[in-house]
Amino acid sequence: MRTVAWNYDTHKLQMIDQRLLPGTFEVAVFDDYRAVAQAITDMVVRGAPAIGATAAFGMALAAQQSKARDVSALLRDLKIASDVLKQARPTAVNLAWAIDRISERTIDLDSGVDAVKETLLAEAQRIADEDVEINQRMARHGAELIEDGDTIIHHCNTGALATVDWGTALGVIRMAHEQGKKIHVLVDETRPRLQGSRLTAWELTQYGIPFDIISDNAAGYFLSSGAVQKCFVGSDRTAANGDVANKIGTYMLALAAHDNGIPFYPVVPTSTVDLTLKTGAEIPIEERNPSEVLSLTFQGLAAHPEGASARNPAFDVTPARLVTGIVTENGIAYPPFETSLAKMVKG
Ligand code: MRU
Repeated sequence: MRTVAWNYDTHKLQMIDQRLLPGTFEVAVFDDYRAVAQAITDMVVRGAPAIGATAAFGMALAAQQSKARDVSALLRDLKIASDVLKQARPTAVNLAWAIDRISERTIDLDSGVDAVKETLLAEAQRIADEDVEINQRMARHGAELIEDGDTIIHHCNTGALATVDWGTALGVIRMAHEQGKKIHVLVDETRPRLQGSRLTAWELTQYGIPFDIISDNAAGYFLSSGAVQKCFVGSDRTAANGDVANKIGTYMLALAAHDNGIPFYPVVPTSTVDLTLKTGAEIPIEERNPSEVLSLTFQGLAAHPEGASARNPAFDVTPARLVTGIVTENGIAYPPFETSLAKMVKG
């Protein structure tokens, strides 16, 4: 099943509830765009491309919910919905990218309300279908970097669950495995929400790819021990100069990889490249509720003194100088990224 999908029988949006995995596989159903926005914030659905497709379907729901009798009134309702959805999570640019694309391509003032609603849903479906096709193209490019026998460190979850299907960085690993390459994955557990140990390990089990979960702070040890050949990660937003925003902890991983001469590859669909931002310093970084950090228990008891405070940035920025190459659906960009990335985005 796809991570996010429109049900054409019920006219509702379905998503795998990622908060419950790996213990429980449950599909959440939505018929209200505001609930969709809340589900993005609460991380029922997460991962930049999955969030983008979800927001696009959220706009289709908003159109379906609208009681507008003419296109201008419908557009007013859609503007409110797009503002609500865009605020759900700030770092992943795919969210705004999908909403802007759907708004630009579907609004024809001369067509009727029903026609606009239909075009909107068709465009959301196109965004979802393209995501799968783009991920598989990206995976074929990226798999060329993987050799038989490689051990790879992977951070967060970038698999089928982080996209509509197939995945970005984990999609590259999956493609190499399907090509018959023998690989081993060291899965960063990814504090504080454990997307690595909960979601990536769950996916790898299903694909039959051998792995070990490691605590995030063990990555440097493995990189310096000669046990690792490559690192593959995803991105939530990549700036024009090749600075890569991704799940918190990615920067530390890139530093340790660089110090040990291990290639570091973000896998980034061009929808995640934001050419309007010169450098990663301009990327908004989401800071989530400290309770996510403070929820850790040790032997059944809180792992911090009562009243302790915490900080919880959800992403960090890896500077382009630590990046070996950026895998996109149009090929692999190498430094200097200012020119190579722009070329990839043009296609
Ligand atoms: O907070 P999350 O789980 O949405 O963060 C996800 C990531 O950081 C992924 O690496 C990124 O979205 C790219 S994966 C397709």
